[in-house]
Amino acid sequence: MTTHKLLFLPGDGIGPEVAREVSKILTLLSEAGIGTFETEEDLVGGAAIDAHGVPVTDATVKLAREADAVLFGSVGGPKWAGVRYEHRPEAGLLRLRKDLGLFANLRPAICYPALASSSSLKPELVEGLDILIVRELTGGVYFGEPKEIVTLDNGEKRAVDTQIYTTGEIDRIARVAFELARKRRNKVSSAEKHNVMKSGVLWKEVVTQVHAADYADVELEHVLADNCAMQLVRRPKQYDVIVCDNLFGDILSDAAAMLTGSLGMLPSASLGAEDAAGRRAALYEPVHGSAPDIAGQGLANPLAMIGSLGMALRYSLGLGDVADRLDQAITNVLDSGSRTRDIAAPGQNALGTAEMGNAVRDALKPLLA
Ligand code: IPM
Ligand code: MG
Repeated sequence: MTTHKLLFLPGDGIGPEVAREVSKILTLLSEAGIGTFETEEDLVGGAAIDAHGVPVTDATVKLAREADAVLFGSVGGPKWAGVRYEHRPEAGLLRLRKDLGLFANLRPAICYPALASSSSLKPELVEGLDILIVRELTGGVYFGEPKEIVTLDNGEKRAVDTQIYTTGEIDRIARVAFELARKRRNKVSSAEKHNVMKSGVLWKEVVTQVHAADYADVELEHVLADNCAMQLVRRPKQYDVIVCDNLFGDILSDAAAMLTGSLGMLPSASLGAEDAAGRRAALYEPVHGSAPDIAGQGLANPLAMIGSLGMALRYSLGLGDVADRLDQAITNVLDSGSRTRDIAAPGQNALGTAEMGNAVRDALKPLLA
């Protein structure tokens, strides 16, 4: 049996609660003889600040690099609002992305049929929705230098963030998007601001070149990022794969997430480049944040975190067929009417985090037999 090395970084807020539900699924997978899962757990975000004074330590980054997959919960909360910018909880996540070279962020937005009525859009607009946002994750305005606030001679302050992209960075993320589109509905929409930003001009140019050179069989369109946001709430099913830079991807993926009924439903994968041995660094996390308002109460929806395990099985552990079954188990649970509070109908009796985790585990069990 293959041994898979997993690193849990549950983090803050609801992170530890939802991560616990993933452990239950892993226990079931081991019992079913799917594989051996060697898990380690470490601190990140506010939890790491409390213990070590920094949001992620060098030792944790090393563990993350050595793992087959990192399962990340969420970071941040009001408790750490006062820590200095360089050491804020989010900096731990950003360092992991950068140091592990996780340039490709896959954020699928799938509307489960049973949840079409939970969306803020009309059910017919979102029913059957299945889009994939491919967000560039290690470049752009998140990391560009200079990044600073300076005081000018006249006493005013001036803040600068820098949006930078090289042809190489655009080329590699475009290829990820085209490859994934080939396995789906074969269409890529590249969202950029080529009407205002130089980085948008280069983005469009490079995506067009990569397409012509190696992916002419895939349908490609360019869409202005603001228009893309509008189209996402107008007619989201026109999209298959959307590829965009780091900041636009942050914004568009939150909008896409909400189409599916709840931010609590969306998993994500952050992948590095493949090395010569075919191995790549990978981190899996729910798109939702730490939700301090409900943390510790056992109310959080664990499906995004469980879905993130599904993506780890698919993209890092070579267990795509098990991932399919896990997706089916989630579908079955939702079809049976089970809901956590965020996706419950008004007045419906909602399940807690652990009950939802148990429901998915129990639904998965017969599918593994
Ligand atoms: C996300 C989050 C992060 C980001 C934060 C927590 C730094 O919003 O993963 O979308 O902005 O990338
Ligand atoms: Mg975000």
